[in-house]
Amino acid sequence: MTKDNVIFFKKWFSNYCKSFYSPNSEDQKNIHLKEEYTFHVCKNILEIAKELSLSESEMMLAETVALFHDIGRFPQYAKFKTFRDSISVNHGFLGARTLLEEKQLQILPDKEQELIIQAVRFHNAFSISKGVGEDIVFFIKLIRDADKLDIWRVFLEFYEGPEEERASAVSLGLPDTPGYSEEVLSHIHGGQMAPLSKAKTLNDFKLVQLSWIYDLNFSPSFKMLLERNYIDRIVSKLPQRSEIEMAALALKEFVHKVLT
Ligand SMILES: [Fe+2]
Repeated sequence: MTKDNVIFFKKWFSNYCKSFYSPNSEDQKNIHLKEEYTFHVCKNILEIAKELSLSESEMMLAETVALFHDIGRFPQYAKFKTFRDSISVNHGFLGARTLLEEKQLQILPDKEQELIIQAVRFHNAFSISKGVGEDIVFFIKLIRDADKLDIWRVFLEFYEGPEEERASAVSLGLPDTPGYSEEVLSHIHGGQMAPLSKAKTLNDFKLVQLSWIYDLNFSPSFKMLLERNYIDRIVSKLPQRSEIEMAALALKEFVHKVLT
């Protein structure tokens, strides 16, 4: 992969996004959110990759994976008007299919095409399937970390910003009711990632997002999590209960253990 390839992909991606722009302000807000979000994920992946001392060509591959990781979001939203995979389509799989159909990756060697497509396909899977080669798994792990770090940012901006600027699809249409599911919370206490399908309310979704910390892969990602204070910021948006505080403590202990 060359620098020119990356420039070409960025230009193509920007035009691809534009083809989904809508005169409906709600739809436009949601589409724009995903486009903007992509650039933050690119920044995150480069930050992690730099800390891990990747080579220049690996950095370019990582950036391209980040650029295309959510390409499936655009046709997903166009067709279903939601970003909730469970009621529409798996956007990782749709993204991989979109890349194959659009054929833009064909300027790259086969091996790099395969890596990018697989990383896009599995970036959002609950776990990485066993049949994927180790070199590809490394990039899947990179994009999963960069993605999570930015989902937390978007989610917190949603809560910390003015109500009129909120893009509706961020909350996945989940009801903002008091209380939360003990089952979702128990995943955090058990040191496990909670499946998104278990989230029935917005509070459950916040807990699910906290449980993603157990799925982070690289120490620079844990450092970024701490620098951005995501744990406390998400916890402050949950009911102030001692069992939630205990969960936050368990997560912080886990992070510190990883980093020491
Ligand atoms: Fe995604």
